[in-house]
Amino acid sequence: DAQYAASPAPVIASGVLPVLKQFTLPEALGFGRVMAPIMYRAQFRNGGWQAAQVLPYEAISIDPAAKVLHYAQEVFEGLKAYRHSDNNVSLFRPLENWKRFNRSADRMCMPAVPESIFMDGVSAVSSLMAKHIPAKPGQSLYLRPFMIGVDASLGLAASLDNDFYVIASPSEVYQQGSFKVMIERQDCRAALGGTGNVKVGGNYAAALAAGRRVQAAGFDQSLWLDPAEHRYIEELSGMNVFALINGALHTPSLSGSILPGITRDSVLQLARLSGVEVIERSIDINELLEAVVSGECSEVFACGTAAVITPISIIADGDIRYEFKAGNPFATQLHTLLTDIQEGRGEDVFNWNWPL
Ligand code: COI
Repeated sequence: DAQYAASPAPVIASGVLPVLKQFTLPEALGFGRVMAPIMYRAQFRNGGWQAAQVLPYEAISIDPAAKVLHYAQEVFEGLKAYRHSDNNVSLFRPLENWKRFNRSADRMCMPAVPESIFMDGVSAVSSLMAKHIPAKPGQSLYLRPFMIGVDASLGLAASLDNDFYVIASPSEVYQQGSFKVMIERQDCRAALGGTGNVKVGGNYAAALAAGRRVQAAGFDQSLWLDPAEHRYIEELSGMNVFALINGALHTPSLSGSILPGITRDSVLQLARLSGVEVIERSIDINELLEAVVSGECSEVFACGTAAVITPISIIADGDIRYEFKAGNPFATQLHTLLTDIQEGRGEDVFNWNWPL
């Protein structure tokens, strides 16, 4: 990964250093609850990017007619900064997030964010927060770059003015333990030719109603099926999904309505390196459930930036429950390989870490 051509260092607004000085990490973090007291902003005006700023974290003011509020013109990313035992801060595969961000922006008819702005944003927030990045296993600074269309008019048109922000949250993994998932038989998360393969807020909003049903039944995540036939597994509401079947690692191939996860890609590469057969294909839900019943499928797990690698303990199909009781040795082994690199304990064989 080549170093990016740095744009001028962002202007650090006067209130930033005082709010950082006052900031203390609470004992209980959870995921995405505690916000860093600073944020980065770059604005696209008159066809170009203006000088970026680091600002104190505060409510943002946009016009009530802003495109994002009516037509959901929004894209985002999730990536993590880790503080290693030598206190150096390292981002995990940030250029992959930058590339996906711009694929999302293109799909939403928004301007590309230059590599220098994206990287300056995530680097500046991480460096300024360095002392406050929690560094126990599973902890990190979760970075959330996003861009919104802010033109104030109700005509259906792409916004000319767009605001790019990076906010951040010192966090734990998304969920401790395991996920209980429920097959979603009613709604679709994303359409063919829609936006399922990019990271836009609307995909997640479309999953919320199913999420409420799932939670009412005592579960954590929906397992989505393909939008054409309602037959092939796609992903969970916020994570990709893998199954270990007869010792090989299977995951849905990128169908066009699945998010190409960066952790998904990392898992595929780590599994291959470990000599495990990796198969990307269409996975029929009935075939998967039969394999669970016969014992051929011994583990299913979720992966994502926020979730890292989280085992799935139950798949429910309506009232029927398919349980995994034999532990998760494979997911545990992959989790160790991945987090040893991310958290700076293991050799970074793929050069994934981006030290600041
Ligand atoms: C991430 O893993 O970074 C995501 O964006 C998923 C979200 C549900 C937290």
